[in-house]
Amino acid sequence: MIQINEDSSFISIENYLTSMGWLKEKEHLINITKAGEGNMNVVLRVTTNLRSIIVKQSRPFVQKHQDIPAPLNRIVVENTFYSAIQSGAIKKHFPAIIGFDTESYSLVMEDLGGCDDMNFIYEQRSISNQNLDTLIAVSHHIHSTVPPTNFPLNLEMRELNHQHIFVLPFKKDNGFSLDTIQPGLQKLSIPFKEDLDLREQVTLIGEKYLSKGNTLLHGDYYPGSWMAKDDHLYIIDPEFGFVGFAEFDMGVMAAHLIMATHDISYLRKIKNSYPSLLDTQLLKKIAGIEIMRRLIGLAQLPLSRTLEEKRELLMISKNMILS
Ligand SMILES: Nc1ncnc2c1ncn2[C@@H]1O[C@H](COP(=O)(O)OP(=O)(O)OP(=O)(O)O)[C@@H](O)[C@H]1O
Ligand SMILES: [Mg+2]
Repeated sequence: MIQINEDSSFISIENYLTSMGWLKEKEHLINITKAGEGNMNVVLRVTTNLRSIIVKQSRPFVQKHQDIPAPLNRIVVENTFYSAIQSGAIKKHFPAIIGFDTESYSLVMEDLGGCDDMNFIYEQRSISNQNLDTLIAVSHHIHSTVPPTNFPLNLEMRELNHQHIFVLPFKKDNGFSLDTIQPGLQKLSIPFKEDLDLREQVTLIGEKYLSKGNTLLHGDYYPGSWMAKDDHLYIIDPEFGFVGFAEFDMGVMAAHLIMATHDISYLRKIKNSYPSLLDTQLLKKIAGIEIMRRLIGLAQLPLSRTLEEKRELLMISKNMILS
């Protein structure tokens, strides 16, 4: 098993890629750089004399915080997800897969090139109708894909996410002071952390998140997984994928559009444009929980807002959860 990182010698990576049959004839390495800002895995951009490819490798820990264990199999989930959606109309919205190595837990894929993730919508405070429509159409195609019978339960990743979405943000003594994010945020968060009605709803939805459903999900459908290239939109990073319920992906999506725009009508827009029936209550609760956990939990976003704006979003999300 080879461990790949930014400082690996060209020759060792070239030998590895060649031994796997992933390089073309007369193809050799020219450069290796970090592909972008990720935390969980090693993600490298490997430039050759012919093209550029992305090599993503999982480790038994979070790459950026190596004292935090993380399931090694997440890259298997990612590969199985990409294989499942490689037919049909949505293929063009995902990077093509070049190869997968089960022994080294590495996935090699097409480099999407000059792309930016869509985190810019928090700053821009809007999203185009075209992007909104595409995101809904792509998610619906994912959800309409019959999940392969071997699709992993991905329970360890879900348990990790469950802690960060449904448990830690609502715990007063979670060891994380929100004032390090923004002075005053800790105090602002207390009433929400102490609200027992909220806690009860969040616990219930958290149990649903961990239970088995029947719809293939991306599992992390938010601007960090959406890549915009000119007019085209790509979706990456399905390592949190699982077979669950569509309202999870759509609620998370709604949450991020509401955080970006402060416009709650995105819930209705998503519900109305999504071609299948969504449970409005469930959609709302997921969206509310996602907004709240992104504001008062550990997994913060590049969302620069005043305390007053955050208070407004927290009130909106509380009403959504208790609706
Ligand atoms: N196929 C690709 N083409 C171009 N750039 C890519 C590709 N895959 C990943 N990247 C870049 O690398 C970054 C990290 O990739 P990715 O999100 O898959 O890694 P990760 O370790 O799972 O990150 P996170 O910790 O956010 O989950 C992306 O934000 C993007 O900028
Ligand atoms: Mg990831």
